[in-house]
Amino acid sequence: MGKHNFVTIADLSKEKILYMIKLAQEFEKHPNREILKGKVVATLFFEPSTRTRLSFETAANRLGTRVIGFSDAKVTSATKGETLKDTILMVSNYADAIVMRHYIEGAAQYASEVAPIPIINAGDGAHQHPSQCMLDLYSIYKTQGTLENLNICLVGDLKYGRTVHSLIMAMRHFNPTFHFIAPKELAMPNEYKIYCKEHNIKYVEHTAFNEKIINEADILYMTRVQKERFSDLMEYEKVKNVYILKNEMLNNARDNMKILHPLPRVNEIEYEVDTNPHAYYIQQAQNGLYAREAIICDVLGLSMDEIINDPTIIK
Ligand code: CP
Repeated sequence: MGKHNFVTIADLSKEKILYMIKLAQEFEKHPNREILKGKVVATLFFEPSTRTRLSFETAANRLGTRVIGFSDAKVTSATKGETLKDTILMVSNYADAIVMRHYIEGAAQYASEVAPIPIINAGDGAHQHPSQCMLDLYSIYKTQGTLENLNICLVGDLKYGRTVHSLIMAMRHFNPTFHFIAPKELAMPNEYKIYCKEHNIKYVEHTAFNEKIINEADILYMTRVQKERFSDLMEYEKVKNVYILKNEMLNNARDNMKILHPLPRVNEIEYEVDTNPHAYYIQQAQNGLYAREAIICDVLGLSMDEIINDPTIIK
């Protein structure tokens, strides 16, 4: 069997997505086990992270693996000019799988082509964030009971937000209607609108963010304006506070509506919303642990049967 990577959500069939959700459910029931005892997972973070790195490392620890890696490339030999290829080949000597976040779009795909061990993409520039997408899908499934036929509002930085790009691709199997809500400077890039057209995904574009749109939503997916991706900070200043979600905007939301956000938040959701019954972004981040346990086990070749019948489960 060939090496199994997790680089883009576009590779996953509907069956595979539903299978990964079932695996995540299994890990939510029993997160602690030693099914991967003796393995080593490397986390290589060339860009800052809180949730993705720590939840991958927690997932690996809860599965019984050891973890090596770095959270800041400045402490590595990349500062001496070592190439990404050489870094990946070196780490492949030490670990059984690599979780990598990199600021260059396509870096994870490149790493997967040179590495003899599985590569998990933990975010590549403004391109893709497939493990976030898995936890988003798991969160949507848990809160809606289905992934089918949902009205999903994507709000904020749709230009640089890699999580919304991945979500569009994953949802192509489930007949969604998307509402893209962004100022024109941060509008959904054409390549993703073309992708929607090619895959018969319905979408409507808006620049206004108001109750009328919120009231029709099943999922309200807020995003941060990504300061670090702007080459001109004056442009960032113009759009940084463009949409701010407040409690008063949620009075007539559907009962099932949940607010998701990949986090970190800056100021696009008021803190008062955190205790609103529609808020789900903190639980969403917790779901990342279970989704990432599923991803690590899957790339390392464990089957559903082996996971369900795992004798190392710690109850
Ligand atoms: N959602 C997410 O990727 O968060 P971090 O940047 O903290 O990993």
